[in-house]
Amino acid sequence: MHDAIPDFFYRCPTRLEFGAGKLASIGDIALSLGLRSVLLVTGTGATKNSEGYARLKEALRKAGVDFSEYAAVTADPEAALVREAASLALEGKRQGLIAYGGGSPIDCAKSAALMAANGQDVLDFIYGRAVPSKPALPLIAVPTTAGTGSEMSSAAVTTDGSTKRKLGFSHESFFPAVALVDPELHTSMPPAVSAATGMDALTHAVESYLSLGANPASDAINLQCVELIGRNLERSCSHGDELGPRSGMAIAAALAGAAFSNTGLGMVHGFAHPVGARHGAAHGLANAVILPYVLAAMASSCPERMARLGAAFALPEPPAQGATRGATGREGAKAFVAEIAALKRRLGIPASLAELGLREEDLSAILPDALSYRMRQRSPRAFSDAELGKLLHAAWSGSLRAAEQL
Ligand SMILES: [Fe+2]
Repeated sequence: MHDAIPDFFYRCPTRLEFGAGKLASIGDIALSLGLRSVLLVTGTGATKNSEGYARLKEALRKAGVDFSEYAAVTADPEAALVREAASLALEGKRQGLIAYGGGSPIDCAKSAALMAANGQDVLDFIYGRAVPSKPALPLIAVPTTAGTGSEMSSAAVTTDGSTKRKLGFSHESFFPAVALVDPELHTSMPPAVSAATGMDALTHAVESYLSLGANPASDAINLQCVELIGRNLERSCSHGDELGPRSGMAIAAALAGAAFSNTGLGMVHGFAHPVGARHGAAHGLANAVILPYVLAAMASSCPERMARLGAAFALPEPPAQGATRGATGREGAKAFVAEIAALKRRLGIPASLAELGLREEDLSAILPDALSYRMRQRSPRAFSDAELGKLLHAAWSGSLRAAEQL
């Protein structure tokens, strides 16, 4: 006797254009969307001056697509940057936007596209003071990292400069019209950035798979993502110039973005957002530090599903000795947590929030933000406030055992 599958829906309207060298066709892709005039949104410094960005502009010129540039996005963009980008889009009467870079420029472009279409402030939408009546201007997202999945997600994160809170907001029109995923653009990513962003992608697939909002469609995608990441993450860090591992990571990151847009995330992100906003830790790094602790605390709530993640993750060829393959239930779940902790060590990621530089007294400011995380209800374990406090402390002190015993 099998349980009936509850009702669900799964959607991702983003057109995925994948391929090494695909950047050359960005002009044609823009024209295929009817975009003859766009605003480019990218980061300051390295991204703005990169060879890839120069090639993007050249391809647009060749295709006759007119553009102006907003190349001032910094990490975890504040609302003020979104407003500047939206003003430029409006002033230039741009038909759409192209975001080039990591999650920060893509998220900034999404929020600016929604602001420009509606003439209202991004924070008004986030705080529920206004509801967008029009969809965002169309966006082509060109990721240069394999992490956030923003290129195929309906979410964007904006930092409220006055409170230093990182605030997520989802909107149907935040799904980019096109995700142009070109792994050649990832080969110059430094190992530490590859590791941190790759761990963000892994966290998305894992949290989405374990979410109470998971469904058969998201499950299929997330298991594939976890397998791709298990096969390719370390190699993409140690041999960054190889297109194979870069391709695997780029696809996994994009697909996981679509999956978590349908299911929601969990308390790894609930903790990582305030850690990032208050202490400047890169988003992927904060997730990577916290991930095994939250998994350890949830292992008894969803052992079979966690064991399945472990089986997908540890599926290299030839099969790794002593890997989680075949282990089921609690044993498999425990082995998966141990593998994630070991992976972190191999990638040189700090073991604990203390190692990341947080002091014990910092935790009291982080906890309230985590308790009010908008996707807390999707966690497979219904943590009480007190339990989340203990879990945060376990992640700070580096005690997997304390997390396990919660
Ligand atoms: Fe994330």
